[in-house]
Parts: sequence; C-alpha cells; structure tokens
Amino acid sequence: MRVLVTGSNGLIGSEAVAYFDGLGADVVGADNNMRALFFGPDGDTRWNQRRLEREAKRFRHVELDIRDREAVLALLEGDDRFDLIVHCAAQPSHDLAARMPFEDFDVNAGGTLNLLEGLRRHQPEAVFVLMSTNKVYGDAPNELPLVELATRWDYADERDRPGISESCRLDRCLHSLFGASKVAADVMAQEYGRYFGLKIGVFRGGCLTGPQHSGVELHGFLSYLCKAAITGTTYKVFGYKGKQVRDNIHCRDVLRAIHRFAEAPRPGEVYNLGGGRGNSCSILEAADLVAELGGGRLRTEYVETARRGDHICYISDLRKLEGHYPGWRVEISLRDILAEMIDSWRSRHRRTG
Ligand SMILES: NC(=O)c1ccc[n+]([C@@H]2O[C@H](COP(=O)([O-])OP(=O)(O)OC[C@H]3O[C@@H](n4cnc5c(N)ncnc54)[C@H](O)[C@@H]3O)[C@@H](O)[C@H]2O)c1
Repeated sequence: MRVLVTGSNGLIGSEAVAYFDGLGADVVGADNNMRALFFGPDGDTRWNQRRLEREAKRFRHVELDIRDREAVLALLEGDDRFDLIVHCAAQPSHDLAARMPFEDFDVNAGGTLNLLEGLRRHQPEAVFVLMSTNKVYGDAPNELPLVELATRWDYADERDRPGISESCRLDRCLHSLFGASKVAADVMAQEYGRYFGLKIGVFRGGCLTGPQHSGVELHGFLSYLCKAAITGTTYKVFGYKGKQVRDNIHCRDVLRAIHRFAEAPRPGEVYNLGGGRGNSCSILEAADLVAELGGGRLRTEYVETARRGDHICYISDLRKLEGHYPGWRVEISLRDILAEMIDSWRSRHRRTG
C-alpha cells in the first residue's frame, strides 16, 4: 500500500504516518511546518518530523506547501502512485483564522482544492480522505434544547441523546472564519466525490487527541487541560459554568476509521467522527478525572464571557459510521486517553524542568 499524508508533522498526520507505516505501507508525508507560523515556537512541528524519519521504516518527508498549486499538481503527476491520500494539512484554529483570514482560507480551502484537482487529473483511482471538523455545523448544534445537570449540559430530548448527526445543517449559523473555510473544503471534497465519482470520504472530527497532542489555550481542550493540571497553570474556563461538553477520540481510533473507509470507500460520503457519548465530558468532569488519575487538581479562573459560537454540548452521533463500517467503534476510553496524556505531559514537563 502506498499512502500520501498531508500535514504529516501534525497530530493526526503523524499518527497516520505511524499507523500505515506500522501496516507495512510506503508513506510519503507532506508538510511545510506552517504550524510554527500559526502558533509561534510552541507550534513548531519539526521535532515530530524528525521522530517519524527516525522511527518509521518506509517514510519519506516532502517539503510541500499545499497552497502551491503547481507543486501539488507536480507531486501527484509524478512517479509516486498512491492508493490512499489522507489530507490533514490545515490551519486548525478559530482565533487565528480571524487574525490571518487569507492564510486560513488559502490553506484550508485553496490547498484542499489543489489536492482534489490533482487527484482528479493524475490519480483518480486513489482513495482520498479529508479531515474536516464538526465546526462546519457552526453554532447550529446549540439550537437543540439542553438541560443543566450537576456537572454538564446535556440534550433535554431523549431523541437527541445519540448526539449530532450528519443531517445537522451547515448554513445560516455562526461558524468563525475557520469554520467557513472548512465548510468550503468539506463541500468541495463531497462534490469531487459525487460529481466526478472519486473515492472521497469526509470525516468531521470532534475533539481528536492523543498523548502527542500539544494543546494550547483555546485549542486542544483535553491536552491543554492536562498540561495545566500538571504544570500548575491556571486554566481559564470561558462561560457555561465549565459544563460545556466535548466528545474526545484517540487519534488511533480516528486512523482505524480512515483505514476502514480506504478498504471500502463510498464516494462523497460524510461521517461524524468523535468519541461519542461514552467519551464525552465537560470541563468540570475532565478536571475531576485528571485529579482522580493522579494528574493533580486543576486551578481554574472563570471568565463570564463564553467564546463566540462555542458548542455548549457536542456529542458526535456515530451511528452512520458504525452502520457503514461494522466492526469499527471507539476502542480507547476517555480514561485511557487521559492516563496516556498525563504520562506524556509528565515526561515532557520533567525534560523541560
Ligand atoms: N485536533 C482536533 O481536535 C481536530 C478536530 C476536528 C478536526 N480536525 C482536523 O484534522 C486535521 C488535522 O488536525 P491536527 O490537529 O492534526 O492539526 P495540526 O495543526 O496538528 O497539523 C496540521 C499540519 O498541517 C501543516 N500545514 C499547515 N499548513 C500547511 C501548508 N500550507 N502546507 C503543508 N502543510 C501545512 C502544519 O505544519 C501541521 O503540521 C485538520 O484539518 C483539522 O481541522 C482536528
């Protein structure tokens, strides 16, 4: 199997490289470390690239800016023939998109179009997976009636309990510029699947995470919360009494879903992909669990104003994915995700003092 991974230095991309390398595939990873430009020195991903180059057996890094149309087309026209393309390169933050709208749109929407057109022209037999996001639904999920419980918000109507399905509407709601550029990519990828019949799948991620996640304030919820508990940093809770709910999925479970899709692709399909109800938690619940697992007691500061458009309760309805790909289910529990994450932050904290 030959695999191309874009954004291969990042959280999901590097997991994709490791996952397919572990299966014996030849993997080409494309990245230009643009995360360092987005997030500053804390966002530098070269360490992860070097780790992959050291550890993966059949991995080759290609320095590629997906905004560079000619370079993307040349790569896909070249000698490397791919069975699977996993597109993870992106500008991933709401707040940065507002500060850098051109870069955000050029990477998320323009870069995706470059890859899709390269696929159509030069590698139409390859399976293509776009990592999209639940932020394409904007704040529409907040329209569901909610009930306030002791430690979390939850859906008030029993019928909503499985969570947000792919039928949630995408328009006439507030997204952030990031959400809007991801909608453009998401719809364009579906279109290349439906209009041209290419083997394209779109996965709308909830909170995707893992021990190698380097969460920062306002981005990478669970990872940053663990880091704050371990390092004694005060964690700012933005509104909703800390009862806002996210569903968390380990990136290995994400890759297992992508792998199932690659084995039996359905052109133009869209799947919600998160931890589901079983792996959902509020900030308050996550803090309790981290303390219970020995990560320390989180110090918090409450900020009355919620983040604009923030989901109050978001749980991915996984029934479509589970129905199309029987055998796939979330395997790594929230507890196990947190335990791994605490270990990882501990050793990083020890190294940096
Ligand atoms: N992590 C999450 O919780 C989450 C949730 C939902 C969706 N997603 C989506 O999954 C995908 C991967 O997310 P992630 O968390 O791994 O992000 P990440 O920031 O860790 O990785 C993205 C990678 O893309 C690279 N990149 C950025 N611009 C580039 C360009 N112009 N050319 C080449 N490479 C470029 C970056 O350097 C980085 O290594 C994104 O599309 C994101 O929107 C992530």
